[in-house]
Amino acid sequence: MRAIQIASLDGPQAAKLVEVDEPDGDGAVVIEVHAAGVAFPDVLQSRGLYQYKPEMPYTPGGEVAGVVRSAPDGAHVKAGDRVAALTMLCGAMAEVVALPAERVFKLPDNVSFEAGAGLLFNDLTMHHALRTRGRLAEGETVLVHGAAGGIGTSTLRLAPAWGASRVIAVVSTEEKGAVATAAGATDVVPVDGFKDEVKGLTEGRGVDIVVDPVGGDRFTDSLRSLAPGGRLLVVGFTGGEIPTVKVNRLLLNNVDAVGVGWGAWTFTHPNYLAEQWAELEPLLASGKVSAPQPQVFPFERAADAIAALEDRSAKGKVVVAVR
Ligand SMILES: NC(=O)c1ccc[n+]([C@@H]2O[C@H](COP(=O)([O-])OP(=O)(O)OC[C@H]3O[C@@H](n4cnc5c(N)ncnc54)[C@H](OP(=O)(O)O)[C@@H]3O)[C@@H](O)[C@H]2O)c1
Repeated sequence: MRAIQIASLDGPQAAKLVEVDEPDGDGAVVIEVHAAGVAFPDVLQSRGLYQYKPEMPYTPGGEVAGVVRSAPDGAHVKAGDRVAALTMLCGAMAEVVALPAERVFKLPDNVSFEAGAGLLFNDLTMHHALRTRGRLAEGETVLVHGAAGGIGTSTLRLAPAWGASRVIAVVSTEEKGAVATAAGATDVVPVDGFKDEVKGLTEGRGVDIVVDPVGGDRFTDSLRSLAPGGRLLVVGFTGGEIPTVKVNRLLLNNVDAVGVGWGAWTFTHPNYLAEQWAELEPLLASGKVSAPQPQVFPFERAADAIAALEDRSAKGKVVVAVR
């Protein structure tokens, strides 16, 4: 089969299309992959900078959508089913993958393979962030950094379905503002001066939740943008710097800085993925939550797809079309 492989830690351009053996499907669900999702950990892994370091050479990508070729007896999916699935940290950008049944989810008919390959990683993270960790309540306001990225557009699509009355997008360019608006932002503000813009939009009160996949020097202004009782959800550090926080700020304004580590939670909570999907799937199937509208790269250009996240040019979720 054809697969993308990375054989040296020189960044996204090390990703090459090669021929490899198909995986051994014994006891697993074997999936013919139509599309694979790209996420920021693929960038970090390609330079050896991620906490998980796969054995070399490795195939990048944490999620796929495709059709089941075969499944073990008793599995909840069968040959011919359209599915989305999690390879989790690598292995997705290949024509065939073999995965344990608990990481495979039936795709609603109204969700394309390309959208399906771009939803599990971020939507399940944001379910964990907004519902389990962030305690989003009806009528609350949410601000999201990196709003035109994968985590950002997922936040914009999902937060209203779980009660948010207003979702404010922080972006670096006007073009990204348009992506955020298409994903459901009620307001778009530029990175520079976002704190004052947010104070103005909320009549001085601030927001109830900040979703932060960026980190760096905007962290303190994010804390200052919270209303009393607000929560700052620490999701990632695409900006490169891991911020530090003076905890007196938490005390003074009665706010929380909340860690969000979805992958780690799934390893300690065995049925969590199934519970999350049971909440998410009906929202997608009914159209209450729109599917992602990904930027799609051909299989041969997987390196450029990963590079688009590194050079900050990606618009929305990025997906690679595999067949
Ligand atoms: N905690 C978890 O469980 C979990 C799960 C999944 C992902 N994550 C993390 O979430 C973060 C976002 O992932 P993603 O897949 O959504 O990434 P993405 O699609 O590339 O979006 C990231 C956004 O970050 C902003 N950004 C600011 N400075 C940047 C820089 N120097 N380089 C690149 N982007 C920069 C960009 O928006 P602007 O240009 O508008 O600023 C960009 O749209 C990553 O750190 C990832 O590891 C965490």
